[in-house]
Amino acid sequence: MMPGALPSASLFDGLSECSLPEGWRWRREGPLTLVPPAVLALAPLTLDFTAGRLAHRLLRASEEPLVRALGLRRKDGPRRVVDMTGGLAGDASRMAAAGAEVLLIERHPAVLALVVDGLRRAEAEGFAPWGDRLRMSLGNACEALPEGFDAAYLDPMYPPRKKAALGAQELRVLDALFAASEGGERTEASTPEALLAAARRGAFRRIVMKGPASYAPPPPAPDFVHRGKAVNFYGWLSSANNA
Ligand SMILES: C[S@@+](CC[C@H](N)C(=O)[O-])C[C@H]1O[C@@H](n2cnc3c(N)ncnc32)[C@H](O)[C@@H]1O
Repeated sequence: MMPGALPSASLFDGLSECSLPEGWRWRREGPLTLVPPAVLALAPLTLDFTAGRLAHRLLRASEEPLVRALGLRRKDGPRRVVDMTGGLAGDASRMAAAGAEVLLIERHPAVLALVVDGLRRAEAEGFAPWGDRLRMSLGNACEALPEGFDAAYLDPMYPPRKKAALGAQELRVLDALFAASEGGERTEASTPEALLAAARRGAFRRIVMKGPASYAPPPPAPDFVHRGKAVNFYGWLSSANNA
């Protein structure tokens, strides 16, 4: 088993029993669905790896800019990646589909419940041949990072962009959930600065952070930048091992 991994998704059976903020509820008939309060006018959220843009991108995972930034296509590139801001596992699933062993860490149990449910359904339907390379852990990645991983990946929450991006609807639901949850979403441990500092305390050959193209990443200056249209990937290499 990969270092730091949890043995099986069955450990997560109780996740959706977590308490939700007032007005939020689960719909459990069919796929697990998180239903925001009507007053927010947000669509209910279900995670489906088998259809739509998510499934399409998984088929071409090795072409993803994120995969290049992490160096996953290189023979001597990282093999084990810890995703410190797992979210809805879009990025983590693409890393796994591109061949990496991934440990996704997510601090909000409701978000992880959606990921576990989506992954189970995708595996049952034969849509997730990469599923056994994706493991999950509930917790604050800044507090306890596992050992034995080559690379760390960070995708902090940024203020919503004005122009609606694809996937923005999901992000809006997450934003609203975190804002309503105890402690709020922008706790200290989820700022780009705190996440980068925590990653730098780990023994990673490579750290990659996603950020809006208009964004200046926290210091120290990154060793490389992969520029995209809407988002950039900032990379820091270990000075001990410039992989
Ligand atoms: C922008 S979302 C990540 C989206 C993800 N990359 C995807 O493709 O679905 C950020 C996520 O990181 C989580 N998060 C933020 N700080 C964290 C921390 N210190 N430890 C664990 N999870 C954290 C938030 O709860 C949120 O779900």
